[in-house]
Amino acid sequence: MLSMSLSNAAEAAKAIVIYFSHTGENYSVGVIQEGNTAKVAKEIARQTSTAIWEIKEAEPYPIKYNDCIARAKKELQLKARPAFQGNPPDLTGIDTIYIGYPNWWGDAPMVVYTFLEKAKIDGKTILPFCTHEGSGLGSTARNLAKAFPKAKVEQNGLSIYGHVAQKDADAVKTAVEGWLKKLGKLK
Ligand SMILES: Cc1cc2nc3c(=O)[nH]c(=O)nc-3n(C[C@H](O)[C@H](O)[C@H](O)COP(=O)(O)O)c2cc1C
Repeated sequence: MLSMSLSNAAEAAKAIVIYFSHTGENYSVGVIQEGNTAKVAKEIARQTSTAIWEIKEAEPYPIKYNDCIARAKKELQLKARPAFQGNPPDLTGIDTIYIGYPNWWGDAPMVVYTFLEKAKIDGKTILPFCTHEGSGLGSTARNLAKAFPKAKVEQNGLSIYGHVAQKDADAVKTAVEGWLKKLGKLK
């Protein structure tokens, strides 16, 4: 394995991957033990050698798909801010956050907003990535930019089909690599 140069290591220390991902029954993949977005998040962390942190909702989303979409829709309509477990990681010295989530009804799950509102992200660069089953990023990157005007939210986010993320590690690797290169994060 190639060792990282000092400048890459310094950059890695200033970035973190933070993601939310749902396990249980999901569209087109059946019942899964590891979420689709989790797989992409881990690949980004691997390629960039950054730390990784998972947003876990305090009250678990239902395992059954239909129950989960019903709750998610209600939360979106109410612009709810469901609690997450624990406290945000220490973001002192972090300037770049790769933020990952599934596309839920065209937006990021509301618990992602709960997290970002608590996590003091003013001035930081936010690089969104998502998994989906046809809608791509939807309006998620625009919505995040609107919700967090003091952060720099990249509009050129990464989106990967959830069933591809779940089943095709090579495709994830290639998509992540291409995106990171476009962003200038990989040579
Ligand atoms: C509540 C809910 C809402 C969803 N809404 C959409 C949607 O609007 N557009 C879309 O393309 N996929 C939608 N999906 C599919 C997910 O985005 C997709 O399965 C994703 O890969 C799940 O990632 P995860 O396993 O990390 O949670 C939805 C799934 C759920 C559970």
